[in-house]
Amino acid sequence: MRNFTNFNDLGSVEKALEWAREVKQNPFADKQLGQDKTLLMIFFNSSLRTRLSTQKAAMNLGMNVIVLDINQGAWKLESERGVIMDGDKPEHILEAIPVMGSYCDVIGVRAFASLTNKKEDYNETILQQFIDYSGKPVFSMEAATRHPLQSYADLVTIDEYKTKERPKVVLTWAPHPRALPQAVANSFAEWMNATDFEFVITHPKGYELSPEFVGSATVEYSQEKAFEGADFIYAKNWSVFNDNEYGSVTNIDRSWMVDSQKMSLTNRAKFMHCLPVRRNMIVSDSVIEGEDSIVIQQAANRVVSAQAVLREILKSNL
Ligand code: CP
Repeated sequence: MRNFTNFNDLGSVEKALEWAREVKQNPFADKQLGQDKTLLMIFFNSSLRTRLSTQKAAMNLGMNVIVLDINQGAWKLESERGVIMDGDKPEHILEAIPVMGSYCDVIGVRAFASLTNKKEDYNETILQQFIDYSGKPVFSMEAATRHPLQSYADLVTIDEYKTKERPKVVLTWAPHPRALPQAVANSFAEWMNATDFEFVITHPKGYELSPEFVGSATVEYSQEKAFEGADFIYAKNWSVFNDNEYGSVTNIDRSWMVDSQKMSLTNRAKFMHCLPVRRNMIVSDSVIEGEDSIVIQQAANRVVSAQAVLREILKSNL
């Protein structure tokens, strides 16, 4: 595996779960693999879990880690070609990326969707520039359209908590005051569609995800109906995908919040969210604090997914 940006780079649910089990059983087995190798983590956006879990994963593999927050202390980067650079951005990403590549062996990139330019977002322009110009293996720490390390951890968590071979997994939209990218929802759908689980997506009309990601999932506009018999409820907000209103928030319908009454419709479902989560907007206190909430275990598995991916990149490239 040269780069890791989506499920296809791994290609197999079974392989993904096998790697995760290996890493989990013996986190320090590959301590020599990363010796004298440097991971550079580039953040264009804020992070708690991705930053800490990926750093921990790299340390378990014996790597050195450099972290750069582009918006705190680095030069502001221009990313458009052909632009006259007479504004507030003194460095072009096309020089910055190869320079960054020269200081490390592997690069992780977090670059959210702009939510203003759908074409650029869905072409993954920033992530692709790192792949094209850094000269180093690149992995996504959440890009414009996907969050594959999160989805990998989600898969591992569901595998650990499922009590039947083919659980019913429901991805539900939930209200949020600000516009959020579709990346987590897209990516979760991509990974769930690769399993043989029963997978349902529920959201208000107008919040349809890209058909590329919906794939073979069932779309159900009644949240209550979708919750019936569910084994896992995965809550997430996303903004509008359709061309005319791309990136906007057209509905903050609080009745879509996940609460105890809705969870009572399920098959005692486990509650999941990638975090950070806005309590009493997305989910009620009672659900997230309840005994069926597995959000902390889900976040803990971010070390596992990051380590499995980094291990494979190190094995394949160095
Ligand atoms: N879930 C997730 O990626 O969390 P952070 O944004 O804190 O990294």
